[in-house]
Amino acid sequence: MAKYIVQGGKPLFGEVEISGAKNAAVAIIPAALLVDGVCRIENIPQISDVTLCLRILEELGANIRSINRHTVEIDARHIHSTRTSYELARKIRASYYLIGALLGRFGQAEVAMPGGCNFGVRPIDQHVKGFATLGAKVVVEGGFIHASAETGRLHGANIYLDVVSVGATMNIMMAAVMAEGNTIIENAAKEPHIVDLANFLNSMGANIRGAGTDTIKIRGVDHLTGGSYAIIPDQIEAGTYMAAVAATGGQVLVKNIIPKHMDCITAKLQECGVEVEEREDTLLVRRTGKLQKANVKTLPYPGFPTDMQPQITAVLCLAEGTSLVTESVWNSRYQYVDELKRMGAHIQVDDKTAVVEGVDHLTGAPIQACDLRAGAAMVIAALAAQGQSEISCVQYIERGYEDIVEKLRALGADIRSVEDPCEGAELEAHIS
Ligand code: EPU
Repeated sequence: MAKYIVQGGKPLFGEVEISGAKNAAVAIIPAALLVDGVCRIENIPQISDVTLCLRILEELGANIRSINRHTVEIDARHIHSTRTSYELARKIRASYYLIGALLGRFGQAEVAMPGGCNFGVRPIDQHVKGFATLGAKVVVEGGFIHASAETGRLHGANIYLDVVSVGATMNIMMAAVMAEGNTIIENAAKEPHIVDLANFLNSMGANIRGAGTDTIKIRGVDHLTGGSYAIIPDQIEAGTYMAAVAATGGQVLVKNIIPKHMDCITAKLQECGVEVEEREDTLLVRRTGKLQKANVKTLPYPGFPTDMQPQITAVLCLAEGTSLVTESVWNSRYQYVDELKRMGAHIQVDDKTAVVEGVDHLTGAPIQACDLRAGAAMVIAALAAQGQSEISCVQYIERGYEDIVEKLRALGADIRSVEDPCEGAELEAHIS
């Protein structure tokens, strides 16, 4: 176990290269199970969630070959099991994609219930409704979700999602890609990683149209063959570095991004007084003046992402005036607020809204990462604070941010990772 020691109060300067998108990678890797051939996947982020996904596939019989740090070849031609290891699958939320992928290819799947919940209820009823509409029987027994196609092969169907769900949209896409006939998913989520999964599957021979809109049409094909695909850059990692510059001041060139994906975050930071200049696949982010208050409401894409809510709240702690942050995707995602208060932040949470009264400065303190994005917010607050902070439970952060310490140090931050002998192994990460 490690912790981060941060000496705050230094503006960030330089360039940072954004890695491949975590939430695309943790779907595309399971989707490789659908492919009857070798898929080469590039721009894979080096994070612990990805390592776990690859280990699960390997246990099912996939042959995984590392080409370089960010490229793997997955050969799922000789899968020998459709039952995942309980221990591995329950550690990550994204293991639910194994149900759609195994069901879509083999007509059956047994996957451990996805990991616990640190920010409220996280149901998968819409995934299950989708599988059932495609002709699968789904039961939960002994901690596993058992799904099987009642006639051996799924059939196309019209599915209307009751809530806009990223996971359900992607999982149903995977299950439907080789179903007999046509599937239409209505009220689908539109996040960039949904388009990325559709592009990956189409490049392997699938027939999916409309990804990125709220109606996705899938014409079932007989099989998918191999190919090569590069994962999109991580919108949230990029947004996190932008928020860090907003909080500390300075000037950073954020490289290897898709500016369109950043619009919702860029617009909000500009409202706070941050200058953002778009140049092809980079953004130049600069903050010299005082931060201004802003109201933020999280929404499904193209709205402001819930996965940036803790980070923007950390920024608003230092803005002039009182800001309102409203979380409308998850029913509870404010556990980290108590940690920010330890640093001198003035925040009141009332149900889904946080009232953030800006303060002149934060002061360093021992703080804890409660989950991945909350951990990112702790790093931002610590970088901006006066004095030293110690951030514990950083394994949550490392599930989703590649080389975060090295990338920040290259920007001039005083941050280092040290062994934390006090932390027990019970602090396993479960949510993404
Ligand atoms: N929901 C249901 N029923 C379902 C599924 C979802 O009611 O069957 C509700 C949820 O309770 C929530 C809302 O719908 O209120 C949205 O949930 P969604 O299914 O979109 O979330 P997810 O697919 O489980 C992914 C990301 C999360 C991100 C959300 C929202 C992955 C592995 N996780 O979760 O990412 O917050 O979409 O954008 O892709 C993170 O990266 O830190 C993270 C938590």
